[in-house]
Amino acid sequence: MNLALLGCGVVGTEIVRLLRTSADDLTARVGEPLRLVGIAVRRPERVRDAEVDPALLTSDAAALVARDDVDLVIEVVGGIEPARQWLLAALNAGKPVVTANKALLASYGTTLHDAAAAAGTDLYYEAAVAGAIPLIRPLRESLAGDRVRRVLGIVNGTTNYVLTRMDETGASFAEALAEAGALGYAEADPSADIDGYDAAAKAAIMAQLAFHTRVTIDDVYREGIGDVTAADIASARELGCVVKALAVAERSTQSEGISVRVHPAMIPRSHPLAGVREAFNAVFVEAEAAGQLMFYGQGAGGAPTASAVLGDVVAVARNRIAGRQGPGESSYAALPVLPMGRT
Ligand code: HSE
Repeated sequence: MNLALLGCGVVGTEIVRLLRTSADDLTARVGEPLRLVGIAVRRPERVRDAEVDPALLTSDAAALVARDDVDLVIEVVGGIEPARQWLLAALNAGKPVVTANKALLASYGTTLHDAAAAAGTDLYYEAAVAGAIPLIRPLRESLAGDRVRRVLGIVNGTTNYVLTRMDETGASFAEALAEAGALGYAEADPSADIDGYDAAAKAAIMAQLAFHTRVTIDDVYREGIGDVTAADIASARELGCVVKALAVAERSTQSEGISVRVHPAMIPRSHPLAGVREAFNAVFVEAEAAGQLMFYGQGAGGAPTASAVLGDVVAVARNRIAGRQGPGESSYAALPVLPMGRT
């Protein structure tokens, strides 16, 4: 099983390392060795990590994807273009794709799913939402026989870190944000975290899977945490609450439709999500038959994200060897996303 890796930043380098250090285990689990045959990066000369074999590097991702000997494409570049073109080319050629690209999935998820279905191949993206936390597969597979009512998530580690520090240590917004940046959780442009775009992309992906309907980031109502003050946090405390940046996707109780939104909210300190501190992520799901479920863990960082990517690689490789396909998501209910205020 020959793999192509697109992107070799923090997550990509960790994938390369784990493919080497866990090679025997992975071979045993898949039934064949997983061999990395190429790594595409924008500037090969800049990759100096001892983990990465320079002979594998190329700046031509499109040519790498098209190579006859590439069986499976892993994408950790991020951003919509050119990742969209590369992944569509891979899927159209019948090559399975494993991606961590939340921005791409939140805007073009149905396009990619349709391409995968048409070519009879797999599209897996456990790492796109909440890093190492198994969440996509539970929503896509484990709960597919149930009716999800609501998904409530703390899916951005940076904002959860900032709000936790403001609540617990009285740190200012700027101090807490600088700490989060130093820990490596923040996006290159932290406004993606602070203004809620990162969480909105994740909310769209979760909502689409939870409700089997088309949702893009443009459907998501979004408010960031930039206006949360120390006084807001103190008031919440007086009321026995804590301020959290939540991603919410829920069925309307009044009409046929769903609401998908991201905003700061006061939640009671007794709620399981209130205990999710610092950069941890958690997603609380309410389903009709399953009841309440909570998924908790490390939602960002090189190693946790690489763990989720490799889990998908193993699943996809097993499918390919067995000549079967994983779950598709090509038929969607026409469940409208209601404008904010109409729940
Ligand atoms: N910037 C994101 C976060 C990284 O803080 O959670 C993971 O998507």
